[in-house]
Amino acid sequence: MSRFWKPGAERPQLLDDEEGGVIFFSAPSSAAGYGYANLERQRQRLPVYKFRTAILYLVEKHATSIVVGETGSGKTTQIPQYLKEAGWAEGGRVIACTQPRRLAVQSVASRVAEEMGVKLGEEVGYTIRFEDVTNPGVTVIKFLTDGVLLREMMDDPLLTKYSVIMVDEAHERSLSTDTLLGLLKKVQRRRPDLRLIISSATIEAKSMSAFFSSSKKRPIQVPGDHIPEAVPAIISVEGKGFPVEIHYSEESFSNYVEAAISTVISIHSQEPAGDILVFLTGQDDIEAAVRLLMEDGQAPESRSSGLLILPLYSGLPRAEQDLVFSPTPKGKRKVIISTNIAETSLTLEGVVYVVDSGFSKQRFYNPISDIENLVVAPISKASARQRAGRAGRVRPGKCFRLYTEEYFVKEMPNEGIPEMQRSNLVSCVIQLKSLGIDNILGFDWISPPAPESMIRALEVLYSLGVLDDDAKLTTPTGFQVAEIPLDPMISKMILSANEYGCSEEVITIAAVLSIQSIWVSMRGAQRELDDVKLRFAAAEGDHITYLNIYKGFLNSGKSPQWCHKNFINYQAMKKVLEIREQLIKLLKRLGMILKSCEKDTLAIRKAIVAGFFAHACRLETFGQNGMYKTLRSSQEVHIHPSSVLFRVNPKWVIYNSIVSTDRQYMRHVLAIDPSWLTEAAPHFYQLQKPYPAAY
Ligand code: CDP
Ligand code: MG
Repeated sequence: MSRFWKPGAERPQLLDDEEGGVIFFSAPSSAAGYGYANLERQRQRLPVYKFRTAILYLVEKHATSIVVGETGSGKTTQIPQYLKEAGWAEGGRVIACTQPRRLAVQSVASRVAEEMGVKLGEEVGYTIRFEDVTNPGVTVIKFLTDGVLLREMMDDPLLTKYSVIMVDEAHERSLSTDTLLGLLKKVQRRRPDLRLIISSATIEAKSMSAFFSSSKKRPIQVPGDHIPEAVPAIISVEGKGFPVEIHYSEESFSNYVEAAISTVISIHSQEPAGDILVFLTGQDDIEAAVRLLMEDGQAPESRSSGLLILPLYSGLPRAEQDLVFSPTPKGKRKVIISTNIAETSLTLEGVVYVVDSGFSKQRFYNPISDIENLVVAPISKASARQRAGRAGRVRPGKCFRLYTEEYFVKEMPNEGIPEMQRSNLVSCVIQLKSLGIDNILGFDWISPPAPESMIRALEVLYSLGVLDDDAKLTTPTGFQVAEIPLDPMISKMILSANEYGCSEEVITIAAVLSIQSIWVSMRGAQRELDDVKLRFAAAEGDHITYLNIYKGFLNSGKSPQWCHKNFINYQAMKKVLEIREQLIKLLKRLGMILKSCEKDTLAIRKAIVAGFFAHACRLETFGQNGMYKTLRSSQEVHIHPSSVLFRVNPKWVIYNSIVSTDRQYMRHVLAIDPSWLTEAAPHFYQLQKPYPAAY
């Protein structure tokens, strides 16, 4: 490889030696099957297959079993099938397997359906927010996001239809996974028949085990029920990966996208066959990298010819996802440019080279400023090892780290921080409240969040009218907001729209705000995109602009050509239609009647403010991209260049979310009249007296 690469001293250990745990089976080594064997033979070659009996035995005996195993060992796709084969799905019971990521849910469900030779949505199904591909009464293995399972607890707090719940990818420590684990521990006390499997790619097992072992309370005895062992079992199903050679860069790069591309090109020209997996951070940088590589490929005598370049991120259309998983065509080399999703959630066959940018997109919440950001931040050593491990599945591989060895050793943190400790907790708190958990501070957290973040969440929920003076959910607003599977601010906006008579319009806005972006990504063609936006731009701001786009889309007869002509993402618009349908169903269930306000944008804007008053900002310095300060905490923020108000700079605005790059940028911005703020939330903006004692 080129000069600046230097082999690292450390060889990645795919799993540290583990000594603890109640029961520990040492793992015979076995490389995963790779070849043309039929699906059944492939299944039997997976490392987890050797542990089939052991896993089933432990699940029978222990309330909780913890399964640790390298990515690709077969945990996600096999264990639910073993459980079914062993009878855990008999008598109308269902086996659940949760994932933190939607794309992983869809992908593993369709794989398992294929292995079982059934149609997806029948015996094997999946549910993600706004998409339910199950057949109640028929589906016995159900994949779902951790967030969806949390929601199901609102209707059925003991999750009675499930016999086994496998909380997969627990090492990711997502906000919903952590909340779910705390709740499931409670459920177990009342349901000795329920079995939990916690599965993880890394050795978080000990802390998980300690969490499930430490119980102040004994299970509630149900006569006649066999009481399983309360102490969790740990089993390691590790299959040995092949060695992976680590190469560090000799200097740090200022632009990791360019560095990744040149690394891909040199691998392609200097290394033998084998697919390349590149870890970048999100849709933006992934698409930029894809485009740059494609452009390079068009140059005469290009060094990147023969590359099949594929992006992988959540929100990718189904057809493009399938390309990532289909076999590499003969004579080609696949380059998959992915977010963190390929770190452990999905197994990609055929990868021999990994390029690790050292970054991922992470949420960070600051309770002082009350701002949650999605930022590109350094990953941990644990993540870096996982990423490297992806190169050694089929044969010895190489990992190119776009950072120095010194940086890895001295600066990279060992472990990431659980999402619970870096998130806005508004959604989490309302969910716990709706499950009747009133003492949030005393909840059995696996890693307790900061008290300041809790208090901020309680304050916001109080001003939204969701909690009463005793910090209990209000009737009916609190319960209705909790019922809508969206951010409580969006849910409150929808409920207020009902009062302002503009729910038709506001659910469209809510649907648009729930997807990544309705524009096709146009890096390098900003001018054209700006021109197109002018066709739809509303002086009031982005939210009303979205309504104009939606109307245009309907008027075109939902035409893909119309979308193409206007740089609008057709898939995204189809998703908007679907989400609208789902919301309409839900609102009908809540007894709301949809009303349209026609052209009265005042009503719409007031409804939006009723949800988002906490995100109000005032213009401080006017200019090309003027500076605003948040009313709540005087933070400096700017309007995002993608907003139609970018150059307009109205005096008062509210925003939907913040992204930070070089500055903090507000996305989805609406011009407002400040008097609407005090009208919508007198407590929030006028109340000087302290909050009621319950806070
Ligand atoms: O969960 P874990 O990482 O332990 O492994 P898995 O996802 O169950 O994957 C086991 C095997 O199934 C791997 O060899 C994958 O390549 C294969 N698989 C697949 O071919 N297509 C999928 N959508 C998912 C898994
Ligand atoms: Mg898995």
